[in-house]
Amino acid sequence: MLELRNVTKSFNLTGAKEDLRVALDHINLQIESGEFVTIIGGNGSGKSTTMNILTGVLKPDSGQVLLNNVDVTNMNEHQRAAYFGHVFQDPMMGTSGDMSVLENLEIAYRRGRKHSPFLWGFKKSHKEEFIRELKRFDLGLEDRLNQKVGVMSGGQRQALTLLMATMRNKPTHKTVKKDYITFSEKDHDVARKEFESVYKPALTEFKKKKHEIRNNKSLSYKEKRNAIAEAYEEFDKKVRQFDLTKQILLLDEHTAALDPKTANKVLELTDKIVKENQMTTLMITHNMRDAIKYGNRLIMFHTGHIIFDVSGEEKAKLTVEDLLKKFDEADKKAVEM
Ligand SMILES: Nc1ncnc2c1ncn2[C@@H]1O[C@H](COP(=O)(O)OP(=O)(O)OP(=O)(O)O)[C@@H](O)[C@H]1O
Ligand SMILES: [Mg+2]
Repeated sequence: MLELRNVTKSFNLTGAKEDLRVALDHINLQIESGEFVTIIGGNGSGKSTTMNILTGVLKPDSGQVLLNNVDVTNMNEHQRAAYFGHVFQDPMMGTSGDMSVLENLEIAYRRGRKHSPFLWGFKKSHKEEFIRELKRFDLGLEDRLNQKVGVMSGGQRQALTLLMATMRNKPTHKTVKKDYITFSEKDHDVARKEFESVYKPALTEFKKKKHEIRNNKSLSYKEKRNAIAEAYEEFDKKVRQFDLTKQILLLDEHTAALDPKTANKVLELTDKIVKENQMTTLMITHNMRDAIKYGNRLIMFHTGHIIFDVSGEEKAKLTVEDLLKKFDEADKKAVEM
């Protein structure tokens, strides 16, 4: 679960009283694991600030940020990064233009995995997996694996960013263990013992298998390498049962810079990826139709407040007119005040 408790954030660039901007005014928000929330609201209403506070890019002036009931308000951006995939409006952000499609994907994939000592020297390329995923976007990216991302179109870059954001969250085993102990609601000692009772025998088994494979004279070097990688995946899977850090996907107008056709394609695929991986998702959009069509909950921001929050059936019944009316009402109220 993701939670904002009484969060307030103001900006004051000059120090002068008249320049004080209240971006968020005592925001309370609870998002259950697996929810897909669309977020709408006028320019400057606090949507992006909310995401930045969740990821730790910004610190709230007051209030708390909680992840699975654990207070992460003081956890820095880099520590929190493992839990979030963030896609921005600007296609230039999120990918490295000087690197190829393949290099960008490899880096995203390996993030958080670099300490895995068992795969040292057994680097299995994930190329086939990447090609399979890229094909789904239907943008021809799979044929341009070795091209620099810098020469690609906005839609292609954004598709790649989305893929990178959704597959990056692979913590090391050590982190899985640490997070399980921290974030499971069990007593720390109980959680630790439970993890060890699976981890230790699985590790012993993997080591045994690796030894057998290495000593198997009928296998070629390549066959040995693949067999070891396979045994490792099996071991890895057992450990990842404990991975409580469900992926959280934050999309900040991620299709705004794309042409309508490409935007639709990227949105459809976003929806698919979210559903397949049961990701907790927050999607900011200025497109009312998309806000209604996607997700199971809709939130409307207005001048640093949440003024509308609907889910399920009620959300599904919404029309664009309903939402425009809400905006009008909020504007009128603000004028009266
Ligand atoms: N880093 C910053 N420095 C100064 N003011 C900021 C900063 N970030 C946000 N603000 C201000 O906080 C308020 C909320 O901004 P925010 O970016 O959250 O709005 P938004 O809802 O995402 O708007 P948009 O739809 O235009 O993206 C605005 O008044 C904005 O000018
Ligand atoms: Mg914004």
